[in-house]
Amino acid sequence: MTQVIDHDLDDLPMEEIEGRHLDAKSPDIFKRIANFQLAKQAKAVGLYPFFQPIDVNEGNEAVINGNRVLMLGSNNYLGLTRHPKVMAAARDALEHYGPSMTGSRLLNGTSPLHVELEELIADFLGEESALVFSTGYLANLGAISALVDRGCTAVIDKSDHASIYDGAAMAAGDTVRFRHNDPQHLDEVLSKIPSDDARIVIIDGVYSMEGDIAPLPEIVQVCRRHNTRLLVDDAHAIGTIGEGGRGTASHFGLQDGGDLIIGTFSKTLSSVGGFLAGPADVLEYVKHFGRPMIFTASLPPASAAAALAALHCMIEEPWRVERVKELGLRLRQGFRSMGFDIGDSATPIIPVKIGSEVKTAVFWKDLLAHGVYTNAVITPAVPRGQATLRTSCIATHTDEQLSHALELFGELGRKHSVIS
Ligand SMILES: Cc1ncc(COP(=O)(O)O)c(C=O)c1O
Repeated sequence: MTQVIDHDLDDLPMEEIEGRHLDAKSPDIFKRIANFQLAKQAKAVGLYPFFQPIDVNEGNEAVINGNRVLMLGSNNYLGLTRHPKVMAAARDALEHYGPSMTGSRLLNGTSPLHVELEELIADFLGEESALVFSTGYLANLGAISALVDRGCTAVIDKSDHASIYDGAAMAAGDTVRFRHNDPQHLDEVLSKIPSDDARIVIIDGVYSMEGDIAPLPEIVQVCRRHNTRLLVDDAHAIGTIGEGGRGTASHFGLQDGGDLIIGTFSKTLSSVGGFLAGPADVLEYVKHFGRPMIFTASLPPASAAAALAALHCMIEEPWRVERVKELGLRLRQGFRSMGFDIGDSATPIIPVKIGSEVKTAVFWKDLLAHGVYTNAVITPAVPRGQATLRTSCIATHTDEQLSHALELFGELGRKHSVIS
């Protein structure tokens, strides 16, 4: 288990962050967790925004509880989930391979579709090689735990995705954090690591909850100065920023955008699964030492086929990337002009910051009752007291849909005293 060493980062204790309130004294594990009542209490007062079944998912619209709603809370950024080519590819693969390969990638779980997908990803990103995992979460677990061995340190941005934290926790090496999007603090943190430790800096390209973009040019410079490798998780950047949706390095026009890229198929690529891309030798190592390559079943071929078709669609239909960027700009301008706090969002992922968790749940419910679905985000996905309604654009949203959403946000924002 990794050791976490923080320099100058004040944090709440973990159970406070996660809202667990455990009874650490009981010898019975079930009794220790019995103090967790929050979900039951929220359900009892009709303010529970999670695990909401979505009956029909059509992309920019969905059906929830029998009502048609505008989908403003999805990671389907390019609107490819219902694309006829994506649907047909998944259907054909299901017919051909069945629902599962029933084995790990290492043994009987690799189909020609996995290989084809790896080749297309590597080609699209201009990387030597790519490796497909069953989810993006597992890509981070596999890559980080394989690479950050004893005598190595993972240096992570404080706001990195949970799967990076979990990969670092699973690794035998140490973990150090630096302040969010702060290259100067990164520089200080790297200076304090013993010089014979091997290090890798791990950041998100686009942060999933804030929608802000990592200052990649500065971070690359700091890494190079410290002779340190850099892994960029572009889960939310692919499809939303960069030329043709190529992500963060492309967004900044960098030749050197880091050493490794993590991505997912569960967002822009409208499927499920994840990947690691980078030098072939490094991937060869991860292939044999990344535990999710060995100890969990491979991505189902139908999901690989859907991601493959979605990537082809993204390349063949560049208007989608341009459209989602344009919609993101419009939505950000609309929120800001009404006085909503949307932080540093610079992408089609836009958090509307509310603060109180109860107020966020009430606002969420009211929006849904008026036909707009958003994501209520509370701790531990965001720090306590910074509850947010996460909104996101889909390339297939119409101008009218966006105007309607903004109008409704304005009306309900005033009603719930989020804006004046
Ligand atoms: C930055 C980031 N990395 C990785 C993941 C995990 O992706 P997946 O859904 O494929 O497990 C997510 C998903 O939320 C994410 O936001």
